[in-house]
Amino acid sequence: MKTQDFITRENQVCAQTYTPLPVVLHKGKGVWVWDVEGNKYIDMMTAYSAVSFGHANERLVNVLTQQAQTLSLTSRAFYTDRLAPLLEKLCAMSGFDMGIIMNTGAEAVETAVKVARRWGYEVKGIPSNQAEIIVAQNNFHGRTTTIISFSTEAEYQRDFGPLTPGFKAIPFGDAKALEQAITPNTAAFLVEPIQGETGIITPHPGYLKEVRRICTENNVLLLLDEVQSGLGRTGKLFAYQHEGIIPDGIMIAKALGGGLLPISAFLSQRDILSLMGPGSHGSTFGGNPLAATVALEALSMLEEGLIANAATLGVYMNERLQNIKSPLIKEVRGLGFWYGVEFNKEFVSAREVCERMLTKGVLTKDTHKTVVRFAPPLIITKEELDYGLNGFEEAIRELEDEKLGGFNQASRE
Ligand SMILES: Cc1ncc(COP(=O)(O)O)c(C=O)c1O
Repeated sequence: MKTQDFITRENQVCAQTYTPLPVVLHKGKGVWVWDVEGNKYIDMMTAYSAVSFGHANERLVNVLTQQAQTLSLTSRAFYTDRLAPLLEKLCAMSGFDMGIIMNTGAEAVETAVKVARRWGYEVKGIPSNQAEIIVAQNNFHGRTTTIISFSTEAEYQRDFGPLTPGFKAIPFGDAKALEQAITPNTAAFLVEPIQGETGIITPHPGYLKEVRRICTENNVLLLLDEVQSGLGRTGKLFAYQHEGIIPDGIMIAKALGGGLLPISAFLSQRDILSLMGPGSHGSTFGGNPLAATVALEALSMLEEGLIANAATLGVYMNERLQNIKSPLIKEVRGLGFWYGVEFNKEFVSAREVCERMLTKGVLTKDTHKTVVRFAPPLIITKEELDYGLNGFEEAIRELEDEKLGGFNQASRE
């Protein structure tokens, strides 16, 4: 069967909640994927950072297979010998005391919201049902009913009301706005250190430091959503480490599952998480031995050189992207192995760029119509990275010629 047949079939039976590029993938290995017609592409998006270790990573597939043959799922009705090693490792790497393991990023965020509210009532003394959580405008934290309630994207909320109350959105990157928004009922500030889905928006240096100071002074929890930015993506284990701060809790997911299965976590300190007793939270699959085993191995691999690769090769990636001079490009931003290239929408849409890159064997996806995102696997080599970036540059040059006609090499320089 050919590409169009699969697309037609999928569109018949799958609700159209996404707008995929017209490619039907069949197989993946390392940084490469193949479509049903045998064409090969480099994966420069890695499932929104979830495939940091590359496709079908041998080490991860081995531990997955072994554990699948040993014990996969028991629910949390019983202890297993796999959960403690994972949480011990997570705590050792992050400096937090405890965690709650869930499955998806959204579930980790929901966990953070519940923990923040409970802390607000039981420790801070906020009157019952009055707790507020401050968030940033243009955030993306997932798709549950409560999470979309504090989105500022109209389409994420349209016809899904009534929405969950108790959230207040302030401009991202504006520490003063946080200071002004805090009331005695504020339990937490929940924010992405770098806004991913909005287009890899990096706040000004010092923002998180100011935010940390303001939260501490006002007895407000600082909760960072590291679902996309965490686990090595920016060249450090967590993005907040670039600012040398310590938050009160973090959410991680995506790459934690090694690209093989979903697993997420909310990590925090003992005095906060000990408020969550039996009956307060749970998940049938949360903390299952199979996911815990894969995650533990994935964390070891991060420590053994992958974060360092994102840090060092990330500098090169940044330079290469910044050096692609084109009137089509408005801005390049990001760090480590995570970039957003914003296009001038009067000339070209980010989707057109991605479709053109497909013809060059390079896979990535636009976000918010104007931004092409890059989040290559952390295992990528310089040669592979060059392959992806060369394809991107070729696509841009072709589009320049088509969109801007007389634009030529001389005006590029
Ligand atoms: C920062 C952030 N938080 C939460 C989520 C939600 O994760 P999931 O899709 O696993 O629910 C995402 C997904 O893109 C994200 O980028």
